[in-house]
Amino acid sequence: MEKKNIDWANIGFGYIKTDKRYVSNFKGGQWDEGTLTDDDKVVISECAGVLQYAQTVFEGLKAYTTEDGKVVCFRPDLNAQRMIDSAQRLEMPAFPEERFIDAVVQIVKANLAYVPPYGSGATLYIRPYMFGSSPVIGVKPAEEYQFRVFATPVGPYFKGGAKPITIKVSDFDRAAPHGTGNIKAGLNYAMSLHAIVTAHEEGYSENMYLDAATRTKVEETGGANFLFVTKDNKLVTPKSDSILPSITRRSLVYVAKEYLGLEVEEREVFFEEVKDFAECGLCGTAAVISPVGKIVDHGNEICFPSGMDEMGPVTKKLYDTLTGIQMGRIEAPEGWIKVIE
Ligand code: PLP
Ligand code: COI
Repeated sequence: MEKKNIDWANIGFGYIKTDKRYVSNFKGGQWDEGTLTDDDKVVISECAGVLQYAQTVFEGLKAYTTEDGKVVCFRPDLNAQRMIDSAQRLEMPAFPEERFIDAVVQIVKANLAYVPPYGSGATLYIRPYMFGSSPVIGVKPAEEYQFRVFATPVGPYFKGGAKPITIKVSDFDRAAPHGTGNIKAGLNYAMSLHAIVTAHEEGYSENMYLDAATRTKVEETGGANFLFVTKDNKLVTPKSDSILPSITRRSLVYVAKEYLGLEVEEREVFFEEVKDFAECGLCGTAAVISPVGKIVDHGNEICFPSGMDEMGPVTKKLYDTLTGIQMGRIEAPEGWIKVIE
């Protein structure tokens, strides 16, 4: 397979149009058989549910070229399941798990020329999404939906790749108790835009959101869950009903216990204790594991002992093991790797 002429090592996390995308429509109570198309434009009613009332959910996963030249995806079944959970919360029809995985496989195969080579530092980001396409004007769910998947080659989510970033404690809340913070709905990201633009203007890479009810507990950032490492090398990760159940975080908890023999605590994390941790990182499909060197809370700085030059040692072990599994250098737990080609 001849690869596209792309400067893989220097692409950022942006959109590059690829050749094929997948589309399936839900009408009359059922999904059609779905198809690949060259057409990157979506034509829907001006009154579509997604345009009026933000009825849309999405997923994000990646395809990797492994050391031995295969192309694989990481745990697509969990993305399929989470998309079903997201859809149900917004009164949208489920797109069945087997069909989701089949659509992902089709999209990667159809865009193989865009799957970055092994060792390039880039990956193919896959974006499944679904939206209400038929008109609604009274507030209610749409009757028709479109499920689509496209792919785009991406580099690191944060400029500088594995360099530690500085983040701020946000004055805005991301998700309410009993709200939609635990699903991957577009609305959660629309309402974070003002906060992220503000953070960027002030020179920060991301926001740390606290729990909306008490503003004492760590939730997550706009696009990743938190990992902390204690001074005695325990992995601590916030547990909350209003954060996204990150597939990367759930995988890292397993990796920490089963591959690295670390003790893991999944529990409420009070902001007050953050200053006592040795390392901090953000984890997600896009973020992979991005180390955090400093957190600024209204002028008060928390500087982690791991510093601003490199990942902390435990974060690095987690990073190397996870990416080793994804790129085929380390044996994966049963069922984690879906071989495409
Ligand atoms: N939290 C939020 C808000 C996200 O958007 C993402 C990205 O998907 C994550 C966490 C990480 O989740 P995952 O590891 O499943 O990509
Ligand atoms: C992902 O990690 O896949 C996400 O959807 C996060 C987003 C901020 C790009």
